[in-house]
Amino acid sequence: MKRKNNWWKEGVVYQIYPRSFKDTTGNGLGDLQGVIEKLDYIKSLGVNMIWICPIYESPNRDNGYDISDYKKISDAFGGNETFERLVSEMHKRDLKIIMDLVVNHTSDEHPWFKQAKTSKKNEYYDYYIWRKGKNSGPPNNWQSVFSGDAWSYNLSTNEYYLHLFTKNQPDLNWENPKVRSQVYGIIDFWLSKGVDGLRMDVISLISKRNSFSDVPEKMSFAQVMEKVYANGPKIHKYLKEMNSKILKKYDVVTVGEGPGINLACGPKYVAENEKELNMIFHFDHLTIDFGPNGKYDPVTYDFIKFKEIFSQWDKALENNGWNSIFLGNHDFSRIVSRFGNDKIYREESAKLLITLLMTLRGTPYIYQGDEIGMTNISHPSIDDYNDVESLNAWEAAKKNGANMKEFLKAIHWQSRDNARTPMQWTDKKNAGFTTGNPWIKLNKNYKEINVENSEKDKNSILNYYRQMISFRKKYPCLVYGSFKDLLPEHDKLFFYERIFNQEQFLIIHNFSNSYTRWKNENSQYVKIKSNYKSSSQEELSPWESRIYKLE
Ligand code: GLC
Repeated sequence: MKRKNNWWKEGVVYQIYPRSFKDTTGNGLGDLQGVIEKLDYIKSLGVNMIWICPIYESPNRDNGYDISDYKKISDAFGGNETFERLVSEMHKRDLKIIMDLVVNHTSDEHPWFKQAKTSKKNEYYDYYIWRKGKNSGPPNNWQSVFSGDAWSYNLSTNEYYLHLFTKNQPDLNWENPKVRSQVYGIIDFWLSKGVDGLRMDVISLISKRNSFSDVPEKMSFAQVMEKVYANGPKIHKYLKEMNSKILKKYDVVTVGEGPGINLACGPKYVAENEKELNMIFHFDHLTIDFGPNGKYDPVTYDFIKFKEIFSQWDKALENNGWNSIFLGNHDFSRIVSRFGNDKIYREESAKLLITLLMTLRGTPYIYQGDEIGMTNISHPSIDDYNDVESLNAWEAAKKNGANMKEFLKAIHWQSRDNARTPMQWTDKKNAGFTTGNPWIKLNKNYKEINVENSEKDKNSILNYYRQMISFRKKYPCLVYGSFKDLLPEHDKLFFYERIFNQEQFLIIHNFSNSYTRWKNENSQYVKIKSNYKSSSQEELSPWESRIYKLE
């Protein structure tokens, strides 16, 4: 099948976590006026799209992923009026806006749930998923993604409701056509206001397996996600319906978040002929360091496997569908801390990682702060953490008698708060993020790592990001060209070719702290880009990236 060219394939996305981006009111929380003030900065990176995490009315039990009014922008962020100004200021600059759509669940303070829980006869009762308890406990043994039972008891209905996340995030019942039609109405509401795309939160989870059978004891959480929670029997029916009823009326981009999708079932979500989504985020490479007990049981990751995941997904979507290329977001550690070296090779490895992101096939996503090489935090006490996932995991570990000193290390390594510390603009008070008390602790390294310093240094990570983004945009080969790993078994080097018509590139990255032997054997290829100023013919320096072009 001939691949279609699209604006969203050729663009680059910048992701904003608004509460940590820029505060303009002094209340310690980022806001949309802050985003407006930084639009010229974002534009200067060369990106074309901004995905903004949820900004709707919310009690914020999960920082906006628990919505209590889908059609209202939270006043804390500036309300609907500021939002409309944001859209217009973005469009003036030729920037597209992608909103987060969170419709697997609502907040328990959403009027639908407040009604639903009052009685089985209420017209909203069937908007959610209810079951009778079993042996004076929940209906089955399902566990929430954020620890503890996935069911909570409700007295008025004498039943349990399902919540795959916190108990304040009841799952919607997509079997109910009224729920689906409400969701399409919400989509229409925002798209008709000029929104250019949607990132669909945990969209792979919306169709449930209604037998609600117990999960076998031996299944790992990753398997449970894949086989029990995600990819339910009606998922493709719902996505096709959403597309035909509403999305196809607009020229917008959609990207689904796909926990539990895999190489076998993932491609169908984005196959062009299936008319469901444009792109999906799979997590094969971002769960690569999860140990037998999941995220907070981290293990050293296997680099050969890491490369294999990129090759396999590229192959799976080669002729039908499109990939999303990302290494982190608001749910994972900082990319330079996780896949690079945030100590002595912070600059080099951050530059390597953006070279990787800009030279793979698919649409690249950059997360705020990565462009200046922001790093993980390691607070001395759990009390300094805010993320509900980390806090619940902490309580569960304590209950299970875990070694809490060791567990704190796992929190340092994996907590979502690593990516949620305020954006570091300057070396002044609170890194220029707020004049008030920040909602979450800053990373202490802001005195050194900040946008202002990076602007002054022409060799900064920030300026290298700008160069790499514009480099990608110059060559259609880097967007559409074929991809082949040329050294799949090498345990330090990632070496691949990209080919598109007459354009051909060879790209090599040294994912290690050591000098590694490697020689370009093909003199027709000329080195045109590197994150090092000078380099040897015989070896690659630590975390060196090079791009060679066929001349
Ligand atoms: C997604 C979001 C995450 C949120 C969860 C529940 O994974 O990215 O931040 O906590 O869904 O909505």
